[in-house]
Amino acid sequence: MQNDLFSSIAPEMEKIADGVHYFRNYVDGDLFFEQIMEVARIIPFRHMVTPGGKRINVAGTSMGDAGWYSDRRGYRYEKSDPLSGKDWPPIPKNINHIISEAAAKAGYENFNADSCFINRYQPGVQLTQHQDQDEQDFSQPIVSVSLGVSAIFQLYGDIRGGTAYNIPLHHCDLLIFGGPARKYFHSVKKLKTDNHPLTGDKRYNLTFRKAF
Ligand code: SIN
Ligand code: FE2
Repeated sequence: MQNDLFSSIAPEMEKIADGVHYFRNYVDGDLFFEQIMEVARIIPFRHMVTPGGKRINVAGTSMGDAGWYSDRRGYRYEKSDPLSGKDWPPIPKNINHIISEAAAKAGYENFNADSCFINRYQPGVQLTQHQDQDEQDFSQPIVSVSLGVSAIFQLYGDIRGGTAYNIPLHHCDLLIFGGPARKYFHSVKKLKTDNHPLTGDKRYNLTFRKAF
């Protein structure tokens, strides 16, 4: 069958480690980018602050029933945007379907994201090492989609520091971390100055999560 032939030559999914699955050039970049622009039109990207008061250099906004949020009161999920008072725009069904389907291929049969945090990186911006741990059910994975300028995603282990496993993420790549890797520390290296026809000098990343 043509599908089998294709997947043996160019497998769409690569298992990088237990709980880490990589899908190269997997999503429709235009579809996802248009959705980012639509979300940003309603709830613009902003720089939040950490509970300690530090500015977060990566700009963010959200879609879904809940949005990840940070300010002096802590890291948490909010059902509407505390800044504008507006509800986060919903995650379109076709997009959630693509995400659930990828998660199922990686072995997560019932993943249905209720939240998507959207990061925007400008040249020189990095994301420091952290865990995604504000969600309620850690049996649910994190599904990440990258758009625009490429970046190096760094995956550590269950403890902070140590040597990173570097995963270059390019336009339209999808990465899943779940299972034993669900709470791995991770970071994104400083974004290089580059240009992408769709996003200019920026990189966007969407992380689909089950928050509640
Ligand atoms: C994140 O860890 O929230 C974002 C990861 C990325 O930008 O690739
Ligand atoms: Fe993260």
